[in-house]
Amino acid sequence: MLSKLRPVGERFALKSAAAPDELFAPLHSFWCGSGTSALALALHAAKLRSPDRSQVLVPAYTCPDVISACLAAEVEPVLVDFAEESAGLSLAGVSHAINSKTLAIIAINFLGIPERIASLRELIDGSPILIIEDSAQGIPRQNVAEYWQGDLITLSLGRGKPLNLFAGGAVLTRDASLQDILQSITPQWHSESALPYQIKYQLSQLLMRPLGFGLLNRIPGIEFGQTVFRPLPEVSAFPEYLSQYLALRLADYQAIQSMALVTEYREGIAQLSNQIMPLAGVVEHAENLLRMPLIVATPSLRDKIFSLLEAQGLGPSIMYRKTLTEFSDIPLSLGKASSFPNACKLAQRLLTLPLHRDVKPDAIKQMLAIIQQETTSVPLADK
Ligand SMILES: Cc1ncc(COP(=O)(O)O)c(C=O)c1O
Repeated sequence: MLSKLRPVGERFALKSAAAPDELFAPLHSFWCGSGTSALALALHAAKLRSPDRSQVLVPAYTCPDVISACLAAEVEPVLVDFAEESAGLSLAGVSHAINSKTLAIIAINFLGIPERIASLRELIDGSPILIIEDSAQGIPRQNVAEYWQGDLITLSLGRGKPLNLFAGGAVLTRDASLQDILQSITPQWHSESALPYQIKYQLSQLLMRPLGFGLLNRIPGIEFGQTVFRPLPEVSAFPEYLSQYLALRLADYQAIQSMALVTEYREGIAQLSNQIMPLAGVVEHAENLLRMPLIVATPSLRDKIFSLLEAQGLGPSIMYRKTLTEFSDIPLSLGKASSFPNACKLAQRLLTLPLHRDVKPDAIKQMLAIIQQETTSVPLADK
């Protein structure tokens, strides 16, 4: 079979329109070159606000770019475990990690499921600790003003993200004094010709189609799915030519109805054995999901289902595969994986299925049939 579903990333039209003053009003946006740069900028702003504080709480399982941003901003990441069977921080773990050096908590939106900002805020009540909401993976389709509750919010326009434009990022805030700080540290937009970008865009749209993606996968040396640690040498600037595409790219994303696919997955999964279940938060945040996240009963069953779906070109992904402590190329000691048992369990048992518009009901049926076959045949001893 030549065609393959890519795990993530929506095909999109590149259409120009006048850039609005504030794309996410009433929040103010500060645009930069990537989501990692946005996070580094947000951390830098937090440091300028509280220079005597240097520690930042980070979930033990997340994108290693979060660590790159901490290193670029010269803050110390302190890992915190997840709550059980969830991709949300353990509130007890956060409480335990907070001290007089804590500068910020990085609250990650995981595949469109936001962190519980109100609960985190209760924990830090009265202290100058900032909540930085990393929303690289989550853009609301509705109610923008209420969706983000962090003091600083960071976005990515990178590959595979909801607002994919292949480059760019932003820091958003409502706070006037943080706006002043961000104004003074955000690099000036850089102007260059949009032509190479437009060519890259055309090519990418061909390669995102099932046939294009299938062929791309056959080129020796091209591998997808492995997350690696990439240091951030400096905060990069926003390419000015991208600003003309922002408004219609957002409108296009917000118009996509992915609920039908989510429902199809959910109803299908509910009829299978309880060896596979949606991740906590899927139901409440169904309309903004980037992929369909599922938890499988055991690591071996997850790995088996993943390889079968992968072999059929159905676009599954197991995300980062390990906790941040297990990335041997991160030049920091982040503790032992065993200190973060819930994050380890999630890393080993998470399976995500694609939700973009090339996913058709037949592909979902095929995925569910494979999952059903495996979940009914798994021996009880493996549970
Ligand atoms: C949670 C999270 N934060 C930050 C980033 C970095 O974004 P970018 O690739 O635009 O630098 C990513 C990218 O995968 C991410 O998933």
